[in-house]
Amino acid sequence: MPDIIQLLPDNIANQIAAGEVIQRPASAVKELLENAVDAGATEIKLIVTDAGKNLIQVVDNGKGMSETDARMSLERHATSKISSIEDLFRIKTMGFRGEALASIAAVAQVELKTRKADEELGTCLDVENSIVKKQEPCGTAAGTNICVKNLFFNVPARRNFLKSNAAEMRHIVDEFIRVAMAFPQIFFSLTSNGQQVFHLEPGSLKQRILQILGTSYSSKLVSVNENTDYMNVSGFAGKPDTAKKTRGEQYFFVNNRFIKSAYLNHAVMNAFDDMIAKDSFPMYVLFIDLDPSQLDINVHPTKQEIKFEDEKIVYAFVQAAVKHALAQFSIAPSLDFSLNADIQQMEAISKPANEERLEAIASSNLFKTFTQKNQAHKIEGTSRIELKHWKDFYEPASQPLPSDIGSITENGKIDQELEYTGYSSLKQELKFCLLPDAVLVQLHQTYIITPTFEGFLLVHQQQAHERILYERYSEAANGKQMPTQRSLFPSAIELSAADSVLMQELLPELKVLGYLIEPFGTNTYVIQGTPADILQGNEKIVIELLLEQYKHFASDIKFSKRERLIRCVAKQQAIKSGKALAQKEMTVLAEELFRCKVPNVTPNGSPTYLEFKGDYLERMFGK
Ligand SMILES: Nc1ncnc2c1ncn2[C@@H]1O[C@H](COP(=O)(O)OP(=O)(O)OP(=O)(O)O)[C@@H](O)[C@H]1O
Ligand SMILES: [Mg+2]
Repeated sequence: MPDIIQLLPDNIANQIAAGEVIQRPASAVKELLENAVDAGATEIKLIVTDAGKNLIQVVDNGKGMSETDARMSLERHATSKISSIEDLFRIKTMGFRGEALASIAAVAQVELKTRKADEELGTCLDVENSIVKKQEPCGTAAGTNICVKNLFFNVPARRNFLKSNAAEMRHIVDEFIRVAMAFPQIFFSLTSNGQQVFHLEPGSLKQRILQILGTSYSSKLVSVNENTDYMNVSGFAGKPDTAKKTRGEQYFFVNNRFIKSAYLNHAVMNAFDDMIAKDSFPMYVLFIDLDPSQLDINVHPTKQEIKFEDEKIVYAFVQAAVKHALAQFSIAPSLDFSLNADIQQMEAISKPANEERLEAIASSNLFKTFTQKNQAHKIEGTSRIELKHWKDFYEPASQPLPSDIGSITENGKIDQELEYTGYSSLKQELKFCLLPDAVLVQLHQTYIITPTFEGFLLVHQQQAHERILYERYSEAANGKQMPTQRSLFPSAIELSAADSVLMQELLPELKVLGYLIEPFGTNTYVIQGTPADILQGNEKIVIELLLEQYKHFASDIKFSKRERLIRCVAKQQAIKSGKALAQKEMTVLAEELFRCKVPNVTPNGSPTYLEFKGDYLERMFGK
């Protein structure tokens, strides 16, 4: 038998290796930006078209490469950043493996132009599929200008695997922000399809945070700064009232490298302790600097995970540093942070529920949408009609007491009647049939005691409403568009660049759900209309909260974009616990819940009511 093992040709070996490093356009963006930073650039421009699928270009004014280095830079394991194994433990640069450019060149068409400041002519190189097509001297600006075209053109499986442009663009923005945040002294810009998305002038870290996360943080940042011989922690944490429902605005940099660490995040969360609500996340941008020998960055191909020599010390140090900062700024835990500040300002929360307000509620838009028969989403109930013949039978007995229901089933005659109707479905109907003229009672402005023929239900008002809205919006998404109520005075909303990218992605879906939002200049949108349920004047808060919530759901890949959006709109617009409800509102809420296809749980599975049956109550009372 002949020998069968062969060395793989370089381009195939490179392509396989590239799979680890370059998974999507954003991975190439990260590598190219980091190379520009390592080259000492003070200006780095990123240009993409079609979310990097067609073009990713990075232009820097760094030190450039010589003709030979330019050629070498595309080889695997070719790096100027380390030369011995010891160097691995004193890494100060972002790169060190000498793999990124080789990986990119294996899966794209690359045009590289580079010139060192002290050389007159630069070098131009065209590479495709790891093969150099052209190399020649050329005139070009000092620094490096690299174009990556048609990523994965030769790996169709990978190309097909890429997500929508909007989703890929979001990954790019994430990577861009991570690098730009770590190097505020460098100018960064990002242009997408000819439109500038970010323009970040060099400045302090605080300025960079405000440029990226929005100026609303300007008086809301607490500076963190602790230095020891072993390590330093510096940066900023958001004051507790800026905590959000998503963990999007949390950044850890270890020796300027963005890392993901649930462990260190836990340390910060601990420092905030009970200053923020359990399900909310504080903003932070923290830099941990320590001797590179105390780290292993080579544990993951994307270098976003690291191992600390002694992680317990780092944990304790980070926690203490943040705690100290919060204490210094006398942010006492005595304030009530259990509710998001925006929500606290809402009328429903801030004003007492007196008679006047209850009347106002009864004539509110929210209330009307419960009752208006002509709403597109109005689903006519059928349960009462189906039950009619049962009621005809029952009413002459003129004893519509829930406790009697149990004895009815013991009565042969009625059992026959029940059999005729279909016993189990009738049982179901009984549970979901309000007693005529039932008085519903609100408990702690959270629960509604809802008497039914079978006993009573303890309905959770917020979770029940979430279920109702979820089904309503799902129907809208699958058929009729939700009716939009045009704003009399359209309000403009300015978003951070990252949120703006997200908004672009969601505009068409939002329209289906009744939101009419139009782009209006850079990162600004005009809210022309909202679904009829939204109170006029609240549109801006609603949209901001909606984006927050969506980001919270964004990692849930098992759902489609539309499903995620429907879930968050439902969650966000559900009437909240703590809101007083008028009798009529409670009745309509219960009736709408009973009409739901799956009335008993919220979309993510929390119960909407607890059931207390008549016979169970009797037993509890020892009858
Ligand atoms: N923008 C740039 N300006 C100057 N030199 C560059 C630039 N990009 C790459 N190089 C040179 O090319 C070499 C190879 O780059 P590449 O990104 O492939 O590897 P690396 O940065 O050394 O390590 P890693 O694979 O971890 O990124 C670098 O070591 C550097 O010398
Ligand atoms: Mg590199």
